[in-house]
Amino acid sequence: MKNEEKVRASSRRLLRDKLIAAAAKAREGSVSPYSKFKVGAALLTKSGEIIGGANVESASYGLTCCAERIALFNALTNRKEKNGGQDARPIFIAIAVVARCDGGPMPCGACRQLLAEYAPDAKVFIADSDDLKQVKAFTVRGLLPRAFVLAS
Ligand code: THU
Repeated sequence: MKNEEKVRASSRRLLRDKLIAAAAKAREGSVSPYSKFKVGAALLTKSGEIIGGANVESASYGLTCCAERIALFNALTNRKEKNGGQDARPIFIAIAVVARCDGGPMPCGACRQLLAEYAPDAKVFIADSDDLKQVKAFTVRGLLPRAFVLAS
């Protein structure tokens, strides 16, 4: 590997680790009194912002919302670049998801659909909160091939 490539690879790794750390931090905000399964997620935008979220549960179990969707809705609605108008949405480069389970938590189908719609080009980093150094990498496209689109 050329030196330049090495520098790029190591800065990508640093950013990945920073995003994993942000997801682990966001996880501390989890409201999960029923499952006690705390999940944190963090999104990285093209402009370098990191936006986190954690799962929130309901006594009416089906109303529970995953960390990935909370982070995504947070990023989409609290975006800094509002001046571009209603349609100016952040471009997401990556999402990290962290929970205490072996190998880390894989995003559920509902979250994959939302990510396919709003973060189609994003990488997905997954880690066990007990072992943040061991990161699995996927892509949104790879996790949900042939995602639903509303025919126009
Ligand atoms: N959960 C997430 O936050 N993300 C996932 O990808 C899967 C599951 C949450 C929902 C619920 O609060 C708890 O984990 C157990 O299912």
